[in-house]
Amino acid sequence: MTQRTLVLLKPDAVRRGLTGEIISRIERKAGWRITALELRTLDTDTLEQHYGEHKGKPFYEPLVEFMASGPLVALIVEGERVVEGLRALAGPTDPIVAPPGTVRGDYGVVVRENLIHASDSDESAAREIKIFFPAHA
Ligand code: RTP
Ligand code: MG
Repeated sequence: MTQRTLVLLKPDAVRRGLTGEIISRIERKAGWRITALELRTLDTDTLEQHYGEHKGKPFYEPLVEFMASGPLVALIVEGERVVEGLRALAGPTDPIVAPPGTVRGDYGVVVRENLIHASDSDESAAREIKIFFPAHA
């Protein structure tokens, strides 16, 4: 099943020079393709749209501050089962329990600065692609 998903390489990944490493992992998966890619710094309005489901939670404000703290890389990835596949490649939210071999497990320590976002469903992917790449929606 060919799908599309929205990936963000978060500001910590950009600051630490890990975007090439993470993009390489995506490109090595046979048949997956990057169909849009942009370096940009997000404003709080865009972040509210993107992470609106978390508004009101204790980690929401520091999350938005972190996500707006510098440029990030937004991508659309297309290919066989990419929604499930990118979540697997990223690993669980908490990098300490994320298995080695996942992006978060290999490079992360704290929950907030966990390097990568990937849409968690087909519906989220469609919604998020519309936010970041309206011309591709
Ligand atoms: P994401 O949406 O970024 O792909 O991450 P996720 O689905 O694995 O996790 P989610 O529950 O949606 O949380 C979104 C992001 O918020 C930060 N977070 N901090 N307790 C905390 O301090 C906390 N919990 C979550 C992380 O950056 C997480 O990826
Ligand atoms: Mg999430």
